[in-house]
Amino acid sequence: MKIHLKTPQQIERIRKAGRIAARVLRTCAEAIEPNRTVDVELDQLAERMVLEMGGFPAFKGYRLYPSVLCVSINEEVVHGVPSGRVLRSGDIVTLDIGVYYEGFCCDTAITVIVGHADYQRKRLVRVTEEALQKSLEVARAGNTTGDIGAAAQQHAEAFGFKPAKNLAGHGVGRFVHELPDIPNIAQPGTGVELKPGMVLAIEPMIVMGEPEVEISENEWAIVTRDRKPAAHFEHTVVITENGADVLTVE
Ligand code: MF3
Ligand code: CO
Ligand code: CO
Repeated sequence: MKIHLKTPQQIERIRKAGRIAARVLRTCAEAIEPNRTVDVELDQLAERMVLEMGGFPAFKGYRLYPSVLCVSINEEVVHGVPSGRVLRSGDIVTLDIGVYYEGFCCDTAITVIVGHADYQRKRLVRVTEEALQKSLEVARAGNTTGDIGAAAQQHAEAFGFKPAKNLAGHGVGRFVHELPDIPNIAQPGTGVELKPGMVLAIEPMIVMGEPEVEISENEWAIVTRDRKPAAHFEHTVVITENGADVLTVE
């Protein structure tokens, strides 16, 4: 088990996969509205778009996962299976997708609010997105995986939120999950030193309540034990001498 650095050519393939994934997430987010059962439809929309753009869904079939998207609602932190749950105004919905392009893959997620949410829910989503930005700012050669996690953790805690336990980011590119792990709970300076050519999925998962999570009855979704909501943003980046180059953008 080792960390595979990616070549410039491989990175360009991941960038193409990332562009497809970003477009799909934006389109799916725009399709979300209250009182609709959009998640199965969304999965079909995502699949069609990925294939039309020359990509291939990375999650469907991975460890027997059944769908193109992970759609995680409220207390579902990650790995929610699109299954026909009706969305209500105020729900917090995370859309997570992996796309392959010419044998190389990315992994990216966004969280959106359905209709109108209360102040604390809006704050959770905003702080989680900012936590990802804080992590990206320290994701550069010479820093460590712990620096990435600590930056997100410190930002979340400054607003009274916490990273979910036992869930981490990861290397990505040839496979959906590669080494190294990117913790979301960490001390600065710990972990693995970042090197140019490392491709990483950085993904703070932040909760409003207590950080413990458990596997739900459907055996895929990971939910907060206290059933309070979570938010999650994820980008795939390549580490360069100058910082993190974000690959999952349009
Ligand atoms: N998107 C998840 C992550 O960010 C991985 C999904 S794996 C699947 O690591 F099997 F659930 F699709
Ligand atoms: Co993901
Ligand atoms: Co990931």
